[in-house]
Amino acid sequence: MRPLLLLLLLLLATAHGLDKLSYRPRLADLEGRVTGSTFVLEQPRCIFDKYNTAEIWLVVATRAGMGDFNDSAQPGMPEWSFQRFPANTSAYLTLGAMQYHYRCLEPNRELTVLRVGSETSCADNASVPNCNGPLPSPGPYWVKFLALNDSESIATTQWSGPITLRTARAIPSSPGTGSGRSGAMIAITAILSVLLAILLAAFLAMLCSSEACGVGSFRPDSASIHRYNTHHVYDQSAARL
Ligand SMILES: *[C@@H]1O[C@H](CO)[C@@H](O)[C@H](O)[C@H]1NC(C)=O
Ligand SMILES: *[C@@H]1O[C@H](CO)[C@@H](O)[C@H](O)[C@H]1NC(C)=O
Ligand SMILES: *[C@@H]1O[C@H](CO)[C@@H](O)[C@H](O)[C@H]1NC(C)=O
Ligand SMILES: *[C@@H]1O[C@H](CO)[C@@H](O)[C@H](O)[C@H]1NC(C)=O
Repeated sequence: MRPLLLLLLLLLATAHGLDKLSYRPRLADLEGRVTGSTFVLEQPRCIFDKYNTAEIWLVVATRAGMGDFNDSAQPGMPEWSFQRFPANTSAYLTLGAMQYHYRCLEPNRELTVLRVGSETSCADNASVPNCNGPLPSPGPYWVKFLALNDSESIATTQWSGPITLRTARAIPSSPGTGSGRSGAMIAITAILSVLLAILLAAFLAMLCSSEACGVGSFRPDSASIHRYNTHHVYDQSAARL
């Protein structure tokens, strides 16, 4: 049913030079698919097989960007750069990849997701306009894929649904959901920290009682070697914790 619809849309759109595919990008179904500055998309597998010489780009937009974005945009144009987003542009292009990266799944299942927002090093570097930089706010954002053949836009997908990122501050409005879980996480972290501190104290105390610390610790060589062995044993057990 869906391939038929796709074909129909393709046929209708060919006359205008830009194919409008029915595919709608979506978040990957996995834990941690949304963080405070990133989100994980399913790769557009099997979607662009017809365009085997094309480069596939991801467009990330604000609500306004869905209307503003010009499908003739070129990667590298400053007006669609990550560094201007969202203050001075409402959309940017990123994650360009040759079409063969998005071939239909091989039986051995390659990596099939894309993390948007994972590149911090180029976030402020205007000479990397297609930086996959961390998203500046919780959004929401909308995304779509654009296929360029030799710098010419030849196909585009639909826009995704709104993608809202996590806020750093948990809002205690609905008990039993996200805020409850992060509360438990804080408690576990606190308990672990205390345990670690106790272990460290015990470790130091043992070191001292084995004459490794204190004033009289400078010894002839044979004793030093023995002491190193002791250290080694302790270091290993500490590392195992
Ligand atoms: C999109 O960009 C192309 C080339 O940059 C331009 O010719 C066209 O007028 C633009 N379309 C819109 C709707 O702004
Ligand atoms: C947006 O443009 C203004 C004026 O050109 C500039 O001062 C500002 O730094 C720009 N902001 C971003 C995020 O590029
Ligand atoms: C910006 O990116 C360019 C190209 O990757 C690189 O050569 C340059 O060193 C970067 N500049 C900074 C300040 O990181
Ligand atoms: C892609 O570009 C090449 C070279 O310009 C051209 O031969 C080919 O027909 C184009 N493919 C499509 C699907 O537009």
